[in-house]
Amino acid sequence: MSKDIKTIAVFTSGGDAPGMNACVRAVVRTARYHKLMIYGIKNGYEGMIKGELEPLFNESVANIIHRGGTILRTARSEEFRTKEGRKKAADQLHAYDIDGVIAIGGNGTFTGANIFYKEHGIPFVGVPGTIDNDLFGTDYTIGFDTAVNTAIEAIDKIRDTADSHNRLFFIEVMGRDAGYIALNSGIGSGAGNILLPETNTTVEELIEVLDKGAKRKKLFNIVIVAEGNKNGNAFDIAKAVNKKFKHYDTRVTNLGHIQRGGSPTCHDRVLASRLGYAAVEGLLGGKENTMVGVVNDKLEYTDLAVAIKKHKPLGDDLIKLSRILSS
Ligand code: F6P
Repeated sequence: MSKDIKTIAVFTSGGDAPGMNACVRAVVRTARYHKLMIYGIKNGYEGMIKGELEPLFNESVANIIHRGGTILRTARSEEFRTKEGRKKAADQLHAYDIDGVIAIGGNGTFTGANIFYKEHGIPFVGVPGTIDNDLFGTDYTIGFDTAVNTAIEAIDKIRDTADSHNRLFFIEVMGRDAGYIALNSGIGSGAGNILLPETNTTVEELIEVLDKGAKRKKLFNIVIVAEGNKNGNAFDIAKAVNKKFKHYDTRVTNLGHIQRGGSPTCHDRVLASRLGYAAVEGLLGGKENTMVGVVNDKLEYTDLAVAIKKHKPLGDDLIKLSRILSS
């Protein structure tokens, strides 16, 4: 154990993700196991700037492992984007004698942490917490598994009504920059087509596939549209398709923020627990400006600058599989 680390802080930032609480719990309990003082920072970077720190103990994180959202709350901070804002945050951390910080969040959170570390030298370990699963340096991010399971539960319900009415449904799922939720929920729910930011399917190509389905009298269909789809959102695509197939009875559903809430799955709880534990161990082992992840089921640390810069590809095998199975 590094003798320099005596007091640490933990916060959640960016979009909340189911499993963040399980991670906070693991961070606090691992820190207390090592007899560290630990503070929770409320409201992400915004709370860091304002000095919203409170001490946490084993009891503080009792009965939260199953809860969605984040007990530390979260925020997107404009002020932290400024040098002055980051200076205020550093002053607050110094006032509480914080030797290291654990940031649970996504790309935006880590981009801020990387700049902050370079300016102020306070050790940061990032834990990937976002439903988008779009971070390099980890096979899975906290919240992704719950989000896709929430999505397929909803899509299964839509399938019942789509089937009953012979309707064509366009269902939009979250994922601003990446199609992980769309691809996995699409395969898992047996969707007819999946439109991803990575594959850039045009409306014409989609119409061609739908046409083939219509010729073999496919009566209903479900098209999953990723939020980050480059050729339009679910409403735009539905409109364009309807122009060509006027006889199609189409409907659009945007699953929206239900994907971010709810009780985390066992996979997310265990992942969050492993990563929270590894974040504290990382700080004690002298890691700085690092993200902890799980790669091939092993805990791994990746430089924060690399994690935010490198793109995690979707995987051609899954894309190919989705096309074969939906044909
Ligand atoms: O990054 C997680 C995410 O849910 C994205 O998939 C989505 O684009 C974004 O957050 C929505 O953010 P907000 O809740 O601020 O609208």
